[in-house]
Amino acid sequence: MKIAVTGALGHIGSALIRTLPDRFPGVEIVMIDNLTTQRYPSLFNLPPRGRYRFIEADVRAADLRAIFAGTHTVVHLAAMTDAEGSVGRAAAVEAHNYEATERVATACRETGARLIHPSSTSVYGTQDATVAEDCPRAALKPQSPYAETKLKEEQLVTSLSARGLRAMIARFGTIFGVSPGMRFHTVVNRFCWQAAMGQPLTVWRTAYEQQRPYLDLKDAVDAIAFVIGRDLFDGRIYNVLTLNTTVRRIVETIRTEIPDLEVAFVDSPIMNQLSYEVSPTRFLEAGFAYSGHLRLGIAETIALLRGTVAGHRAKIA
Ligand SMILES: NC(=O)c1ccc[n+]([C@@H]2O[C@H](COP(=O)([O-])OP(=O)(O)OC[C@H]3O[C@@H](n4cnc5c(N)ncnc54)[C@H](O)[C@@H]3O)[C@@H](O)[C@H]2O)c1
Repeated sequence: MKIAVTGALGHIGSALIRTLPDRFPGVEIVMIDNLTTQRYPSLFNLPPRGRYRFIEADVRAADLRAIFAGTHTVVHLAAMTDAEGSVGRAAAVEAHNYEATERVATACRETGARLIHPSSTSVYGTQDATVAEDCPRAALKPQSPYAETKLKEEQLVTSLSARGLRAMIARFGTIFGVSPGMRFHTVVNRFCWQAAMGQPLTVWRTAYEQQRPYLDLKDAVDAIAFVIGRDLFDGRIYNVLTLNTTVRRIVETIRTEIPDLEVAFVDSPIMNQLSYEVSPTRFLEAGFAYSGHLRLGIAETIALLRGTVAGHRAKIA
């Protein structure tokens, strides 16, 4: 079996490529990344049992038909991924991410490869207490250019699915947890970093009590393996999240590791007044079992950072 992972060196991809050989023994893993985010270390110390091939290329320019020939599944993780940073760069984010997905999805359709397309629960924005995949259009209110583009990409993948593409769309909650290519601009990891460095946690003013969906990186990787193993390419959208919780609970959980942390309330261009839970039911009913855990994910991240700064709680100037 051959699995191709675009954006393979990123936060999710660098964990996924290490797990796939366990889940699918003998699998050939083709990793495509243009190294825009310089995650070279994601390629270091890959498990010897894996059969890896790395292609340094931009998915918008590479010969994807040739690369995907004979591929069972493409996991398309290549994207510009900073939601807050996408504000004011809408045209660039849309041009990049949409074009990347269009080329990848089209090449999958042409070669017969199945496609896992990660979207985001940031496409939601509702007054309702809980929102599910089949919500009314009014409950889809992307708050950033990044999320708006995700919605357009979903529509593209859905329409290609009606014309022969075998795909599934996973609306991932905000990821937390450790990987070789991890990043720290998403909320849980950023707070862990700030707390470990002795900096105040920069909490969006409106966000403290708001419910939002979060996804343990281990669950994200397990979910991808589950979809491939179950051949769950039914063209549908699935919410994938470990838990819904508030920023207050995240802060309090970090406080159990670092009791003297400080909180500073700040404004963000993409904050809103909405609080809602995202329903995980559809993916659970498909048979997926979550094993991720906020407390453990935070403890692991902080342990890693403590190791990095040798417990000195170094202040970054
Ligand atoms: N991390 C999250 O919280 C989260 C939540 C929901 C959805 N997602 C989605 O999951 C996917 C992966 O996210 P991530 O957190 O691993 O992102 P990431 O930013 O850590 O990794 C993205 C990788 O893609 C590469 N890349 C970017 N553009 C490329 C291109 N044109 N060609 C080839 N490589 C390219 C980058 O170099 C990087 O290594 C993205 O689509 C993201 O939107 C992530």
